[in-house]
Amino acid sequence: MEYLTFALTKGRLVEPTMQLLENAGFTCSEMKIKSRKLIFINEKQKLKFFLAKASDVPTYVEYGVADIGVVGKDILLEKKRNLYELLNLKLGICKMAIAGPISMKEKLNQGFPLRVATKYPNIATDYFYHKRKQNVEIIKLNGSVELAPIVGLSDVIVDIVETGKTLEENGLVVLDEIIPISARMVINRVSMKMEHERIQDLIDKVRQQL
Ligand code: PRP
Repeated sequence: MEYLTFALTKGRLVEPTMQLLENAGFTCSEMKIKSRKLIFINEKQKLKFFLAKASDVPTYVEYGVADIGVVGKDILLEKKRNLYELLNLKLGICKMAIAGPISMKEKLNQGFPLRVATKYPNIATDYFYHKRKQNVEIIKLNGSVELAPIVGLSDVIVDIVETGKTLEENGLVVLDEIIPISARMVINRVSMKMEHERIQDLIDKVRQQL
């Protein structure tokens, strides 16, 4: 039997994802030991797990080196890869929002040509173009986006808000909510056909735990 291969998002999603999979009967004891390893195997169940950077998970799954991926809806919306999105795992719940200093609220609502810093240029472009029909300049950053409006690189940001603590501690507020976000299980299109029985069994068992 071939391995059923998972690409998981490295970081805070790993633990709740593995707990969910374990509750559904899919385990990997090797992953419970803290280490910097990136590949883990359960020989008995023929399961393999990769730990990848969130934005790379859809790539591993689309290319078929992983059959299954677990990744945030934010990344799926941003990357637009050709995958089956099968389950909302209801983990990592947060929202995509536009945020900035409170003084930007009026400028935003008046349709001012704003500068927007974000890790998500596609989501930001879609939102401003389609929802707000507003002209903006998008500035792509790679993290700590909250810094941008504070130091004057941008007027507002488009970013993930979970507890709201990062915004609060930096004197920023949510100016509009774009979309709710949570982790999704995605499947490679060929794997879905070739490994249909095993994948369907996995999906059914995970769904029962949701
Ligand atoms: C995310 C996000 C915010 C923060 C929101 O960043 O980009 O900065 O978490 O969480 P909060 O509302 O609970 O404060 P992450 O920690 O992934 O790091 P990054 O900014 O370097 O991407």
